[in-house]
Amino acid sequence: MPGSPDARDAYRAPLGTHDVLAPESDRWQELVARFADRARRFGYGLVLTPIFEHAEVFHRVGESTDVVSKEMYEFEDRGGRHLALRPEGTASVVRAFVQHRPPVPWKCWYLAPNFRAERPQKGRYRQHYQLGAEVLGVDDPDVDVEVMALLWGFLRELGLTRVRLLLNSMGDPESRAQYREVLLAYLHDHAGLLGDEMARAELNPLRILDSKRADWQPMLDAAPRLGDHLGDDSRAHFERVQAGLRALDIPFELSARLVRGFDYYTRTTFELQSDTIDAAQNALGGGGRYDRLAEEMGGPPTPSIGFGAGIERILLACDAEGALPAPGARVDVFVVDLLGTEDATVLLHELRERGVACDRAYGGRSGKKQWSAADKAGATFGVMLAPREADAGVVAVKDLRSGEQVEVKRAEVGDWLRDRTGHE
Ligand code: HAM
Repeated sequence: MPGSPDARDAYRAPLGTHDVLAPESDRWQELVARFADRARRFGYGLVLTPIFEHAEVFHRVGESTDVVSKEMYEFEDRGGRHLALRPEGTASVVRAFVQHRPPVPWKCWYLAPNFRAERPQKGRYRQHYQLGAEVLGVDDPDVDVEVMALLWGFLRELGLTRVRLLLNSMGDPESRAQYREVLLAYLHDHAGLLGDEMARAELNPLRILDSKRADWQPMLDAAPRLGDHLGDDSRAHFERVQAGLRALDIPFELSARLVRGFDYYTRTTFELQSDTIDAAQNALGGGGRYDRLAEEMGGPPTPSIGFGAGIERILLACDAEGALPAPGARVDVFVVDLLGTEDATVLLHELRERGVACDRAYGGRSGKKQWSAADKAGATFGVMLAPREADAGVVAVKDLRSGEQVEVKRAEVGDWLRDRTGHE
């Protein structure tokens, strides 16, 4: 069958996707837990939406963008419905808002896989995960500042320092339409340089602005700027956003050529870039306002703003900066069983019910092998169940870091270990 993988590839994760196993998955959990905690402190609630939607939901957000026109995984289901795997989170959140009409401001956060059929490379995958936050129903520039502070502080709390916040305003759709014509005329004057890309420029001239092509840079630097075409309201809003960021001591760089990859953006747009990753993949997160999207999906006028941040890229930046190391020990206690009875099973159960993380070896392995498994598990304590101790009603507990060994009454060892492993 055309397109079907040969036997060698069939049992490998598809191109551009990957499995995440422990201990790397422990880092994921830690990252998500920290984001969830921060989002809670900022007053955001978790939202879960389906992994696929009616394809129109996404066509709405970017007909002229690569993500939607070239990279989307679209399919027909068995009932003949035209569906698409989610390429990004905002459209789904707005669809859910229009469907359920929760009271505004609606402040939500999410963790979700997204699918884009891109050319895979380090930091660019066909399935990637985003942590995101959205606020629907607020026009106030203070909320733009809040959303950026949420993401900025999250990255700082992880220990990332080589991160820059780039800020721009896309203005309102009317002033942007005027600017589009001015820019297109300018690009026409440089059609020779643009070559085949002129066709793409006709479709979406703003996207040309954030091209990384070295030979275009002087032409792009001299291009007319959207900032010079902002309407009065957009300009005032943008100034308030900048004042808010300054008040919070969040450094930012104005970036007139920051053009984000979806059609829905209005006014504030931003991106957090890491200096530690190749330029083509250096955005750890980005977002902006999408004041018209809810209306376009049949909802009431709902000015809104949010961001998405790629987990894989944040972890690449953490690797480069030595931040968020993989957590060490997975268990506190390892039970070494020389009895071969049910006692080990019962002791492990008692400990786990008390909140102590513990493990064991299986299959009647030698004492030596079990002690070495205890070391490998990174346990703090090894607890030995052996005939002589069992007869005396005690267990031998060894502190695996100091090597010190003590005897503890079997009836008391559960509480004893709970008290020494810092669990309630
Ligand atoms: P985006 O810039 O397309 O925005 O994606 C957000 C983040 O997801 C990027 O900054 C990057 O870290 C990560 N990302 C995107 N594509 C990939 C990929 N192929 N592989 C790995 N990581 C990737 C959005 O998706 C908007 N929904 C953000 C938003 C929310 N705007 C307003 N609200």
